[in-house]
Amino acid sequence: MPLFSLDVLILAAGKGTRMKSELPKVLHLLEGKTLVEHVLDSLSSLKINSKVIVVGHGGSQVQKQLIAVDDKIKFVTQAKQLGTAHAVQCAHSKLKNKATHLLILAGDAPFIQKETLCKFIQKHQQEKADVSILTSLFSDPKGYGRIVRNIKKQVVAIREELDASSKEKRIKEINSGIYLFNKKALFTALKKVSSNNKKKEYYLTDTIQIMMDQQKRISAFNLALEDEVMGINSRTDLVMGYKNQNQKTIEKLLKQGVTVVSPENTFIAKDVKVGKDTVIYPFTYIESGVKIGKKCHVGPFARLREKTNISDLAQVGSYVEIVRSDIGKKTMVKHLSYIGDASIGNNVNIGAGTITANYDGKKKHKTQVQDGAFIGSNTVLVSPVKVGKGAKTGAGSVVLKNRDIPKGAVAFGVPAKNFKNSKRNKGK
Ligand code: UD1
Ligand code: CA
Repeated sequence: MPLFSLDVLILAAGKGTRMKSELPKVLHLLEGKTLVEHVLDSLSSLKINSKVIVVGHGGSQVQKQLIAVDDKIKFVTQAKQLGTAHAVQCAHSKLKNKATHLLILAGDAPFIQKETLCKFIQKHQQEKADVSILTSLFSDPKGYGRIVRNIKKQVVAIREELDASSKEKRIKEINSGIYLFNKKALFTALKKVSSNNKKKEYYLTDTIQIMMDQQKRISAFNLALEDEVMGINSRTDLVMGYKNQNQKTIEKLLKQGVTVVSPENTFIAKDVKVGKDTVIYPFTYIESGVKIGKKCHVGPFARLREKTNISDLAQVGSYVEIVRSDIGKKTMVKHLSYIGDASIGNNVNIGAGTITANYDGKKKHKTQVQDGAFIGSNTVLVSPVKVGKGAKTGAGSVVLKNRDIPKGAVAFGVPAKNFKNSKRNKGK
């Protein structure tokens, strides 16, 4: 935890021309979440005085999206995108408060890890620097600002690609776009930034050389991995970043004792939890917020969506989509099903082609299937509806809403009618 009070500024006004999109760049999705929300997630373990976001292109859209996530965020509009230094300057009035330090991040660099940010802040504190730059070593640094150091290895400047000499272009240490500034020193330096460069923009990176001339303490810490600080500037960056992150998530699961049969043909969001000895078959797509227990089988061709919990020893097979639902222990949903807003008990068999009709055109409703029930192939469960313990439905039944099937009963037909416990079911 920082010993100083900290404000955070996220720069997100850029158009993102290279995305060739009508959507503001920072609202593009990665694992179902916008790029800028990933940046906000990375701040979750920090104590922050004030969070400010600079918006411009599609500003109201960005604002609307983010207010829903965190209503304490403050917004500043940068009407014309004159550069990163100008963006920070625009936020000045919103940053006049007790916090002495300012962490600046870019809204288009979504892979930064909390742990790296914490280490970075600690280092800054130890060095008592006026500004620290988070850096990384890139095998191919093209397009990024280069960290220029003197013979004593002290940082003297950040040079943007377009303005770099051929010698500077060979530098592999790059600027991540994440900085921690002493606020007062930053705003003093910003006054001196000019747009005298190839792009005719006011570069935040120019504050480094200015602070150097003002005898300020400058530090740069190479703490970030290449994948973590890559900026998303194009669709290619977006899908490459996506791929890297997915492979990392899968490697982590493999190490934890989960078999992912074909990593390159499986998508698993980074926060998904999976228990030991579970096997995930190819072409499975598991979204954020899913939990899977131990010794389960999932896929091939399964799609698990938000708020889904699969208990131990359950099996979810091919062409099955599950959302906002709990699947009990040893329960099987093996073929061609849609399960939405449902609570399915233990030891349930969901026959091939079973559908929960959870949406009436206006609202979503719940389905409950209790322990030991047997749902026949091609059953439609029109919600809200409940299937009692050990109850059965015949193949092709349509169970209408509120026509609950009592414990142990059998229902079949269209619409399904309940029959008393048959001899066959008794004692089961
Ligand atoms: C920037 C850095 C570069 C660094 C790289 C890391 C500068 C001058 N360069 O380059 O050294 O290696 O990030 O990813 O800062 N933005 C605004 N207003 C503006 C311009 C930009 O809010 O007027 C925002 C953008 O929305 C974006 C961020 O600032 O989120 C960075 O801008 P971008 O144009 O992507 O800078 P890079 O060329 O990537
Ligand atoms: Ca960028």
